[in-house]
Amino acid sequence: MQAFKVLNGKTALLNRVNVDTDQIIPKQFLRKIGRTGFGGDLFFDWRYLEDGSDNPDFELNRPEFKGASILLAGDNFGCGSSREHAPWALSEYGFRSIISTSFADIFFNNCYKNGMLPIVVSPENHQMMVKEVETNPGCSFLIDLPSQTVRTHSGKNISFDIDPFRKEFMLKGMDDIGWTLQFESMIGAFEEKQRQQMPWLWLRKDYTQSELTEDSVRSDAMVQFNLWLEDACRRMPDDYNAMTLATADNTGHVSARIVLLRVADDAGFSFFTNYDSHKGQELAKNASAALCFFWGPLERQVNICGTVQKMTTEESYEYFKTRPRESCIGAWASLQSQVMKGGRAELEQAYQKLNLQFSGQDIPLPPNWGGYRLFPSEISFWQGRASRLHDRIRYTREKTGWRIERLYP
Ligand SMILES: Cc1cc2nc3c(=O)[nH]c(=O)nc-3n(C[C@H](O)[C@H](O)[C@H](O)COP(=O)(O)O)c2cc1C
Repeated sequence: MQAFKVLNGKTALLNRVNVDTDQIIPKQFLRKIGRTGFGGDLFFDWRYLEDGSDNPDFELNRPEFKGASILLAGDNFGCGSSREHAPWALSEYGFRSIISTSFADIFFNNCYKNGMLPIVVSPENHQMMVKEVETNPGCSFLIDLPSQTVRTHSGKNISFDIDPFRKEFMLKGMDDIGWTLQFESMIGAFEEKQRQQMPWLWLRKDYTQSELTEDSVRSDAMVQFNLWLEDACRRMPDDYNAMTLATADNTGHVSARIVLLRVADDAGFSFFTNYDSHKGQELAKNASAALCFFWGPLERQVNICGTVQKMTTEESYEYFKTRPRESCIGAWASLQSQVMKGGRAELEQAYQKLNLQFSGQDIPLPPNWGGYRLFPSEISFWQGRASRLHDRIRYTREKTGWRIERLYP
C-alpha cells in the first residue's frame, strides 16, 4: 500500500449529503473481489448519460476538477452497504483523501485499509473550504499527515484528529495485514512452541476411508449396527465394545462414562453395572439414555438413544457367572461411585475379606449389581468423509420398521 505523508492535490467538490456506497459504486459492478477495475464505474448513475457519454451536470465531470486527488464531500459520506468496493473505486479514480464533516463508520475504516485518508472537519471549516473551492474551482489543498493539518487554497491551516495507530499505518503504507506481517517471525516462533506443547491443536485429519449411502445400508438398524461392530472387532480388537453411556437425572443434570457393550440384538444394547452407582441412580429417576461408539481406525461413530430397563435377576446372574471370580468379588467389594474415605486400602481390605468369606463357594450375585438394556428409538451411523463432508444416516424406529434418513454432517 502507498504510504501517505504529504499530499498537495487538486480538490474536487461533491457537496451532497448522505452519498451512499451504492451511488459511489452501484451494485451491478460488484462482480469481482479484486481491488481493481472499479474506477471507471465510480458514481456511474450520476456520471454518465444514458448513451454512455459524460453527464455535464455531474460535479466531478467539470473540467476544473479533472485529476483531483482530494474529494471535498458532504455529511455522512459512504453510508449504506458496507462494500469495500466503494473505497477501491474512489482510490482507483485517483482520490487519496476525502474531507467531510462525517463519514459512515465502515466506509471510514475501509478508507484506511486502502491508503486513502478520511479527514473529519467541523461544519464551519467545511463551509469555509466549500466556499474556497466554489470560488476557485481547480484549486489545491495541502494535507500534511505528520502535523495533522490541511492548508486550504487561501492558506488557512485546519487541524484534524487521527487515531495514532491509524496514523502510523498510513505513514508506513501498511494495512492491517501488513501490520500483522511485521510480526511474522514472532508468530512463527509462537506457533512452533504451541505445536510442541499442544500438538492436538495442530491435528488435521481428513477422513477418506469409506462412504455410507442410503442404498448401501441395511434396512434394519440392528443388522447394520452388528455389521459395523464386526468390522470394529476385526480392525481394533481392544475395547471395540467400549461405549459412552450418557444419563441424566430428573432435574436435567447429565453425566457420561464408558461401559462395555455385551450384546446388541432386537431387545436392545445390554451392559452391566452397579445399580447403586451414579449412573444407576440417574437411570432410576430417568430411563432415557444415550450411547456413543467411536471407532477411530474405521473413521466411524454410532449414536444411539432410547430408554433403559433393568434385566431380570436371572438374566443378570447368567452373565455374572461367566465373569472371572476376581471380578465377581470386585463387584461385591466396590461401592461404585461412593467416596472412599479410607483410601485404596479400604477397597483392598474389603476385597480380601470377601475373598475369604466366599472361599470354596460360587460367588452369589450382589443384590445391587446387574444388567440394563437400552431399547433404541434412534440410531445414527457416521462415516467420516473428506473435507468434513461426512456421511450420516439416521434410523428412527416406527411401528412397522425403521425410517432411514440422511443428515447433514
Ligand atoms: C474401557 C472401560 C470399560 C468399562 N466398563 C464398565 C462396565 O461395563 N460397567 C461399569 O459399571 N463400569 C465400567 N467402566 C467404569 C465406568 O467408566 C465408570 O467409571 C463406572 O461405571 C462408574 O460410573 P458412574 O459413577 O458414572 O456410575 C469401564 C471403564 C472403562 C474405561
